[in-house]
Amino acid sequence: MQSLFGKRSQQLVGLDISSSSVKLLELSRKGARFNVEAYAVEPLPPAALSDKQIADPKALGETIARALSRAGTRTRQAAIAVSGASVITKIVEMPKTLSGDDMEEQIKAEADQYIPYPIDEVSLDFEVLGPSPKNSEMVEVVLAACRREQVEQLCAAVELAGLKPTVVDVESYALENACQFLQHQMPDGGRQKAIAVVDVGAAVTSMMILFDGKTIYTRDQNFGGRQLTEDIMRTYGMSFEEATKAKKSGSLPENYATDVLAHFVADMAQQIDRALQFFFSAVTQYSTIDQIILAGGCAQIPGVDVSIQERLQIPTVVAKPFAQMSIASRAKPANLAQDEASLLVACGLAYRAFDEEKA
Ligand SMILES: Nc1ncnc2c1ncn2[C@@H]1O[C@H](COP(=O)(O)OP(=O)(O)OP(=O)(O)O)[C@@H](O)[C@H]1O
Ligand SMILES: [Mg+2]
Repeated sequence: MQSLFGKRSQQLVGLDISSSSVKLLELSRKGARFNVEAYAVEPLPPAALSDKQIADPKALGETIARALSRAGTRTRQAAIAVSGASVITKIVEMPKTLSGDDMEEQIKAEADQYIPYPIDEVSLDFEVLGPSPKNSEMVEVVLAACRREQVEQLCAAVELAGLKPTVVDVESYALENACQFLQHQMPDGGRQKAIAVVDVGAAVTSMMILFDGKTIYTRDQNFGGRQLTEDIMRTYGMSFEEATKAKKSGSLPENYATDVLAHFVADMAQQIDRALQFFFSAVTQYSTIDQIILAGGCAQIPGVDVSIQERLQIPTVVAKPFAQMSIASRAKPANLAQDEASLLVACGLAYRAFDEEKA
């Protein structure tokens, strides 16, 4: 089996290859304290990746190489993630008496029940979660499968940049892993609270509901900052690159805030509200949540937390995963602060460096 969750390593960079950019992050740990060693965000040409499919491997490889040189790290091992429609994750039950090898055999033999692709075209991995709450003879196992072609293309681009992809994770798990760095922002550290972590990226909005620190629900929607970029291009006759830059620096005509940005933020609130309604109807013991934590590039829009809070009447904050970390001067603390909310997936991937210590 080609490993999806991958092997463990001590020194590695988290590499979030997403629709708008390549984000690199390296963490170290001393005792309970984390340190940001290196980071870089490098914009991706819009045509390099579409719908999580690599359209231009060379452009992607070059972008990763630029991110690596900008970050100035010597670490050459990377944790990357697959995501999108071709990634399937499922929780299944297996007899607890099976050895690792036997479990692998059984999962392979039964894989066609879980996965709609021919088994020889997928990368498959599994991890035992723990005893099954329903049956004491069984354990719960999480299966992750992805089209092998997607994994291979991604790895090839990473290798082109001189990195070795030693861990291939699933993006939603990386996001989940990163939520430990948000605990300090949650009321009562998240204990007995329902918290919605909403990552509004360029193309996709991922919502994850945590209760008592555990994920109880996830949902992805096609919505993101690209819509705002397109509104800016249309309204001011700008190119994609111009609009992307202007949006981040805020250098746009005076009517931008009221005529363009306000509409987008209203849309964003509506999208989040809709996702919450889906959650309330799917998991009926919940009818309220205690807090929204906004992440992703769109969380970096000035004042967006206040607008969302006013519209949805739910306490809302912007994710600050590095608030309790020290930051190396090489990691350019001022720039890092501006990109902080968009680095959650990268945080979850960088954290894979400490897997072994956890075990
Ligand atoms: N300061 C800012 N103000 C407004 N928009 C911003 C700001 N910073 C980033 N963005 C927007 O956020 C989006 C990028 O967010 P992010 O980096 O989370 O997306 P991504 O991870 O590349 O996309 P996806 O997760 O959808 O694949 C872009 O549309 C970008 O223009
Ligand atoms: Mg993203």
